Amino acid sequence: MNKSTFVKKTTLFLNTLDFVKKPVVFDKLDSTNLTAKALAKAGAKEGTVVIARTQSHGRGRFDRIWQSPPGGIYLSLILRPTVPIQQASLLSFMTALAVTKTIRSYGVLATIKWPNDVRVNSRKIAGLLLESEGDGSKIDYVVVGIGINLCVDLKNLSSAIQEKSTSLRNELPGPVDYYDFLKIFFMTFEDYYSDFQAQKYDKILTEWKAWSDTLGKRVKIKTMTGTLQGTVDDVDNSGFLILRTEKGDTQKIITGDCLYFDELDHT
Ligand code: BTN
Repeated sequence: MNKSTFVKKTTLFLNTLDFVKKPVVFDKLDSTNLTAKALAKAGAKEGTVVIARTQSHGRGRFDRIWQSPPGGIYLSLILRPTVPIQQASLLSFMTALAVTKTIRSYGVLATIKWPNDVRVNSRKIAGLLLESEGDGSKIDYVVVGIGINLCVDLKNLSSAIQEKSTSLRNELPGPVDYYDFLKIFFMTFEDYYSDFQAQKYDKILTEWKAWSDTLGKRVKIKTMTGTLQGTVDDVDNSGFLILRTEKGDTQKIITGDCLYFDELDHT
């Protein structure tokens, strides 16, 4: 972490369970994922959390920029899971569940769009970026990066992002407290993470499927190797999306950019 990238830091005592170790809140960082990765490489313990009030170089999936104005939650958690590496992708499912459940605790019907978006009324409210290091058979660490539009003033996002986004503040009649939200989130995350470590994958997937808006949808999925079109049939126990393509075959997809046909601009 470059000293010039933050102004001030505060240590929080959220009184959550013992998993999350005294989160440090920075006024400003380049990217909480970058800071957390540096800490993880230097041996930081599981449960270490880095939070920033704003980010100058917030990163999204596929190296996109994650616009990070004040009012949002920008956090990264270091995990050192002990489960078989094939199950690592379910971490993004359980993280999406934890974010969704926290938002739902405010009475707002958040849904999950495969693989890593949380949405309200078809507008994105949160995104996840998981980055891991390991030797192919064992996970050394996973940095779980989470960006949530909590009280973001949507006018502070570019117009292209604005029209596809919402903020929890916009979905509620009253204000939302930053620290209350974090506390509920960490407690919820901790519950799901203990299910994950106990290999309760069926429970995680059943809940994920109940809250996902992707199953049954006609989609276009951009992967590293090309674009596929079809209907989403299911998600398997390792987190692969099962797509029935328009050519009539079935494809298993681990990650990609997913677009819903019914939301594409057909003009
Ligand atoms: C996406 O939807 O593309 C994922 C966005 C992830 C953004 C979060 S904000 C906290 C953490 N630090 C980053 O630089 N990115 C993630």
